Amino acid sequence: MSQSPAELKAEIIRLTREYAARTHQNNRPGYETASSDRPAFVPGQTVVPYAGRVFDEDEVAAAVGSTLDFWLTLGPEGDAFENELGAFLKVKKALLINSGSSANLLAISALTSAKLGDRQIRPGDEVITVAAGFPTTVAPILQNGLVPVFLDNDPLTLNGRVDQLEAALVPGKTKAVMMAHTLGNPFDLATVTDFCRRHGLWLIEDNCDALGCRYDGQLTGTFGDLSTQSFYPPHHLTMGEGGAVNIVREMRLKVLVESFRDWGRDCWCASGKDNTCNKRFGWQLGELPEGYDHKYIYSHLGYNLKPLDPQAAIGRQQLRKLPAFIQARMDNWQTLRTGLADLEEFFTFQLPTHATAWTPEGFVWDASGHRTECSWFGFMMLVKAGAPFSRRDFVRALDAAKIGNRMLFGGNLVRQPAFVSLKQQRPDAFRIIGDLPGADQIMKESVFVGTYPGLTPAMLSYLIETIRGFVKKH
Ligand SMILES: Cc1ncc(COP(=O)(O)O)c(C=O)c1O
Repeated sequence: MSQSPAELKAEIIRLTREYAARTHQNNRPGYETASSDRPAFVPGQTVVPYAGRVFDEDEVAAAVGSTLDFWLTLGPEGDAFENELGAFLKVKKALLINSGSSANLLAISALTSAKLGDRQIRPGDEVITVAAGFPTTVAPILQNGLVPVFLDNDPLTLNGRVDQLEAALVPGKTKAVMMAHTLGNPFDLATVTDFCRRHGLWLIEDNCDALGCRYDGQLTGTFGDLSTQSFYPPHHLTMGEGGAVNIVREMRLKVLVESFRDWGRDCWCASGKDNTCNKRFGWQLGELPEGYDHKYIYSHLGYNLKPLDPQAAIGRQQLRKLPAFIQARMDNWQTLRTGLADLEEFFTFQLPTHATAWTPEGFVWDASGHRTECSWFGFMMLVKAGAPFSRRDFVRALDAAKIGNRMLFGGNLVRQPAFVSLKQQRPDAFRIIGDLPGADQIMKESVFVGTYPGLTPAMLSYLIETIRGFVKKH
């Protein structure tokens, strides 16, 4: 007798799991006891990535299962993922987006909606941000016709210099602060949230590199009005491409973000649903005739930035592993920091915000009383100006040893070709506070290697030995 569709699906999933268990050994978490199928680590030959996908047969089975269901567009898996991410963060709502960059674009775009009345951010208004970091934290500000105002970075924490906030403020013109928790290091949220509250500013936390990090015990991404996530492979969880906008408190922002995500429409029906508002043909908006189909009424100049349902299915499996991933990043950082403890003469090691030093017993904290917990995106080192080798010597040696390494993304962004030509064409396109020496230092000296959960103990030891061996040669 032929199998039923349900039996066929179960058989496909069983085979998929078997296939994935055999073929993706190298992508399993590094903290798992090495399975006999995992190829042995060969120093100098096996690549030690700075980051990458960490998954097992659960994710592959979820992707295949959802593909067989063939809903395709955001649907049941997307709904479940949004609910589960929202519950993890304890925010009002998490909205799934097709990338972290799109999430940043939507977060700031939503705040330009005329529906916000006197809280609307209007063309020419200013948004305070940070000079060194990832370009798409800043580009959406300009793409919305707004003016970024760049704070410098502190080269120790790599976060924005919040002592410059007051200098950056132009009352009546400054409308928001939008900045990232750099490499999993929460920025000084006490100072920033107080600043925003006192001046009536919106706060967007770019939490793309910091899912699971905490400030005074509370998860980052839950302090601002909106926050964003990226689910690209190097991040704390992945679905290939993907991102989220988190609506922290005010549900009126959900409708706006959703509208910009979904073509700019006024209607809020989920995919495949009609008439959620119960008056589909009962609206009169703009100069449209009364009763015009609400599904085709556009209150914003929107986009289409939705991911697919199978991506959400993968993300749901990753969410289940997230607590272990968060812990692995902390543990791996600690292992590397301990192994490189006596190299402070050559490197400045990144410090958590509010910490003043690292010791084998723990961090030394400043007098503010605030504490940060970092689930590190990477292990960041700045090659000291007086070191007997250059940053270029160091990254070449890492490359030769097959150790993945990265700089702090775009470095001092205002020195990037896109910003240099923008300044030439429109000198008032952005403003800079001071001369940005911290951002320049980060641009010239920073290098990070991996802390991601795919690293095995053998890889971590090799990383430490290689860096120590390199320093010894000089
Ligand atoms: C801080 C930060 N924001 C935004 C992004 C963009 O995310 P995505 O690559 O998903 O567009 C990244 C990418 O790594 C990032 O590091």
